[in-house]
Amino acid sequence: HRDLTGIAQLARHEILYLLDEAEQWVELNRQSHKRAEVLSGLTIINAFFENSTRTLLSFEIAGKRLGADVVNMHAATSSVKKGETLIDTAMTLNAMRADAIVIRHGSSGAVRLIAEKVDCPVLNAGDGQHEHPTQALLDALTMRHALKLAPGSDLNGLKVTICGDILHSRVARSNILSLTALGADISVCAPPALMPADIEAMGVRVFHDFDAALKGAQIVMMLRLQQERMQGQFIPSPREYRYLYGLTLDRLAKADPAALVMHPGPMNRGIEIDSQVADHPTRSLITDQVERGVAIRMACLDVLTRRTRRVPGWDALSGD
Ligand code: CP
Repeated sequence: HRDLTGIAQLARHEILYLLDEAEQWVELNRQSHKRAEVLSGLTIINAFFENSTRTLLSFEIAGKRLGADVVNMHAATSSVKKGETLIDTAMTLNAMRADAIVIRHGSSGAVRLIAEKVDCPVLNAGDGQHEHPTQALLDALTMRHALKLAPGSDLNGLKVTICGDILHSRVARSNILSLTALGADISVCAPPALMPADIEAMGVRVFHDFDAALKGAQIVMMLRLQQERMQGQFIPSPREYRYLYGLTLDRLAKADPAALVMHPGPMNRGIEIDSQVADHPTRSLITDQVERGVAIRMACLDVLTRRTRRVPGWDALSGD
């Protein structure tokens, strides 16, 4: 079976294929009867070992809109709390004959480990500091729509600035991989303590001065400080962080005059982003991102279960 463990496993044409497949589901989701029976008779398990609002709900809605039976396992109320290991949990889900398993886990690589143990496709809903591939795909789809680019288009030459806690961010990592593959020009900005040492090797420009990083940016992607992963290392005060790295309306004026703002959520309003920016009627794409998230997850569930369903296109994601 083919899994979706990260953007790193996808070729450029496979990223574009998933974006193009999602277009039909954006249209379906806007209709009053938002349902197709593509996954009728299939069972999808969402196994979430970390908290989530957007990713969990959008995978659940995506599966249901495609006609699948969707069940959710929350680690906090599961036998994980009684000491069951990750592998034993995975083998338990496998024995229930799920047709796809969607996993969020706090450890980088946990999703790959599970994918190697189970018989059905596994989709990464965020693993530690590693990857969050469906977030990067929905972000690319959102950019393409906002810029009125036709299906099939890449993001060649688009100037994207990603600012925030790059060190702990699987969203930053997956976005850098996908945006690089699609030809975008990426700058990353963070305090030195929140910037990975080897980030330049990913083909990005590195800034610690937010004003300089914003120059010419057409897309400004803001990220949350992930204090839950900092273990007391470096936690700037919210006031200091906002002063240096918060996106205010004044600061947004330093980017391209038509720059658009993104944030994967959850936001810490008043720290990395001000409400005037987050709720801006024409510059903020944040609710568009959530809307496209359902369509992207529909596309991923459809494409990855085609082999089980023995339908054409099962080999669209060819290699691993
Ligand atoms: N963007 C994102 O992954 O949000 P959740 O943590 O709410 O799923």
